[in-house]
Amino acid sequence: MNILSIETSCDETGVSLVKCSYNKNRYHFEVLGNNLISQADLHATFGGVFPSLAKREHAKAIIPLIEKTLRDGGVREAAHERKNLDSAKDFLEREPETKEALERLTTFDTNTIDAIAVTVGPGLSPALWVGVNTARALSTLWNKPLIPTNHMHGHIFSSLFPSSRMFDFPALALLVSGGHTELLAIKEDLSIEILGATRDDAIGEAFDKAARLLGLGYPGGALISKEAEKHRDAYPTHTSTLFPRPMIKDDSFDVSYSGLKTALLYHLRDNPIQDASNLSELSREFEDAALDVIVSKTEKALKTGLFASLTIGGGVIANTELRKRLIHVTDSLAVPLYIPEMGLTTDNSLMIAIAAFVSIQNKKMRVRTELKDIEVRANMSSSLFY
Ligand code: KG4
Ligand code: ZN
Repeated sequence: MNILSIETSCDETGVSLVKCSYNKNRYHFEVLGNNLISQADLHATFGGVFPSLAKREHAKAIIPLIEKTLRDGGVREAAHERKNLDSAKDFLEREPETKEALERLTTFDTNTIDAIAVTVGPGLSPALWVGVNTARALSTLWNKPLIPTNHMHGHIFSSLFPSSRMFDFPALALLVSGGHTELLAIKEDLSIEILGATRDDAIGEAFDKAARLLGLGYPGGALISKEAEKHRDAYPTHTSTLFPRPMIKDDSFDVSYSGLKTALLYHLRDNPIQDASNLSELSREFEDAALDVIVSKTEKALKTGLFASLTIGGGVIANTELRKRLIHVTDSLAVPLYIPEMGLTTDNSLMIAIAAFVSIQNKKMRVRTELKDIEVRANMSSSLFY
């Protein structure tokens, strides 16, 4: 099944064309085309993602990105097919720029595309609508079924790329991103239950806020981690004790990250950064505190003996130290770990094609041509299929 997937939930515009298959108990994903435009530099001036700016940038990027992905994927040019163009354009009343550009996509012979997958949530509503309205227009223009897809399922299933057997069930999933910090229980029928979540800030958000306090810029996770690694190299046996580990001893699987950020704020107020080595030490102290909590909750969940595997996903999985620690924990408990490739941890559209295919393969979603009335679900729970 060839799936064209679209991701616009936050500040990355992504379009992929992926050949998805399932045989001999394995999933296989072959990338035919994959393009991503990040707006991170633009939003950096605001220190976070600015929704109306995100919408504008998605609207500018989306059609040229689809066009490039189709070309990269070897989709042939054909005679103009304008039959459905007017009714397709109706979906883009609120996206004049996209509406105007849609015509450029009438020149492709889309016989080889089987479905269009699009992120419907969770995310920023104005940003999500650009992808969803474009997908509805394409579905009408080319007469292709739509697969409304949960962004968080993209993070859950990205570890199946490029080829893997399905997780061993019941599986534990750890999702750590700029908007989410969750532990999920997934059964064989792919029913998903939220075991624990953050009560305030997400871990990625904590990294981003801490980076701003440390004067490192946005998005901050990777920058803090780079600083922290310098300190790890210089002082491998150092024990971090400067900051609190909120809720680490708590019985639940919930976490809390706002107190850690406040502790850093107060520390810096009383002890301004001295020099480069002090900056890397503070980054390491912060990173250790943040990771101790989430790794300990994950380990506690695995030690219940209820889970046959662990899958991990989300932007913070790019963190080298977190990957190391999770590999260590799962090795010592002899639990298989499903870990995404580095490039698939932060937001991308490949993972949306993967999640869409997995949901169809497991009958969580039917491929329906008539489904044009899909909507954005900005606060969609990780436990929900559309
Ligand atoms: O999944 P993602 O791309 O977007 C959301 O859906 O939120 O995650 C982005 C988050 C940001 O908060 C970023 O700071 C964090 O992932 N991040 C990291 C690292 N790389 C990205 N956090 C810690 N260490 C990293 N190396
Ligand atoms: Zn994400």
